[in-house]
Amino acid sequence: MRKLLVTGGAGFIGANFVRHLLHSDPQISVVTLDRLTYAGTQTSLHGLPPQRHHFVHGDICDAELVSKLLHDHALDTIVHFAAESHVDRSIAAPGEFVRTNVVGTYTLLEAARTAWLAPARRGESARFHHVSTDEVYGSLAPDAPPFSEATAYDPRSPYSASKAASDHLASAYHHTYGLPLTISNCSNNYGPYQFPEKLIPLLIVNALHGRELPIYGDGGQIRDWLYVEDHCRGIERVLRDGRPGQTYNIGGGNQWRNLDLCRRLCRMIDETFAADARLRERFPAAAAAQGGRTCDTIRFVADRPGHDRRYAIDAAKIRRELDFGPAADFDSGIRKTLEWYLDNDWGWRPLLSADYRRWLAQNYTARVK
Ligand code: NAD
Ligand code: TYD
Repeated sequence: MRKLLVTGGAGFIGANFVRHLLHSDPQISVVTLDRLTYAGTQTSLHGLPPQRHHFVHGDICDAELVSKLLHDHALDTIVHFAAESHVDRSIAAPGEFVRTNVVGTYTLLEAARTAWLAPARRGESARFHHVSTDEVYGSLAPDAPPFSEATAYDPRSPYSASKAASDHLASAYHHTYGLPLTISNCSNNYGPYQFPEKLIPLLIVNALHGRELPIYGDGGQIRDWLYVEDHCRGIERVLRDGRPGQTYNIGGGNQWRNLDLCRRLCRMIDETFAADARLRERFPAAAAAQGGRTCDTIRFVADRPGHDRRYAIDAAKIRRELDFGPAADFDSGIRKTLEWYLDNDWGWRPLLSADYRRWLAQNYTARVK
């Protein structure tokens, strides 16, 4: 693993991963390929060393471009993050999810097969790592054991169905052609650079602007939250020592009901504003800046159709085989995340485009009707 192609590296986890890897291993260089959809911005990649990081604005569905990059940069590793990733958007418009998540993954697999399995290249080490989600396993009953690598796939949203399809294609390329490939299925991530359409950054950004905090349904859905830096470390462990053909589940061992998580975050926002007068000046519309309680801005709104009730990961395999476990506890992870959003509005304000504001308003208005 010396020369990597990272797809979707201008998005949330991809950007954290590129930063993590370039920081942790001076031998590595990275080509980032990203289409810069609404969810990606080069701002997330600012300040990286130009000798070791090269950004390409392009589409993973562009077979010619992908093959040229593999060839021209002699890339030996692909870490594939690029995806349409938001469940609500997949319900509103599934087509783009099939295109990027299924056809895009196929395009990358095919380019890797052609480049790396050609007779002249056989024997050289290469690795395709496909980044996926725990959502492919479906929804858990309250007392059911967490998802393991042996859990049968049961995707229930267009997003998770498109990711499940991409996982199946990826494993087929290993079994059929011998492509050296690993897959990881991870639980919900949170941390810096996340687009504020996902729960945690949406709650933070709404709270800072004094907007209501929408909780879908009864707020009793459960997610298993992992700090993004831990996900990046887990992927690095799989890349270095994971066995080709294997899937590794990565999770936080950290299950929260949405409503409890939201209340925890609201308390943290109130405490942080109470301790820092400058925040009250910078975000005057926030309830916490006006002597109110952020919790009072929670609003129960219409549920997501087909909303999965609970996700949780059994991460025993990656712990056993690769000695990997998360390092961040939830309180410190969520505090670091809040601090990042408070200190780095240059990092997320550019994402709040007219498209974002339109989407947020439409999604919200439809739910409060
Ligand atoms: P994200 O939406 O923040 O970023 C996706 C990135 O992919 C963006 O930069 C976007 O511009 C890029 N992209 C989209 N279509 C593209 C295309 N056709 N060609 C090139 N680039 C394209 O997503 P994320 O949250 O960082 O998720 C990254 C990966 O991790 C996804 O595969 C997702 O399924 C998986 N995952 C995410 C989570 C999570 O909690 N966010 C959890 C488990 C797994
Ligand atoms: P999300 O961040 O969209 O991730 P995923 O759907 O992939 O788990 O949502 C996390 C949980 O939060 C999910 O149960 C839906 C819920 N949710 C809300 O209650 N309100 C919101 O505004 C959003 C975006 C999500």
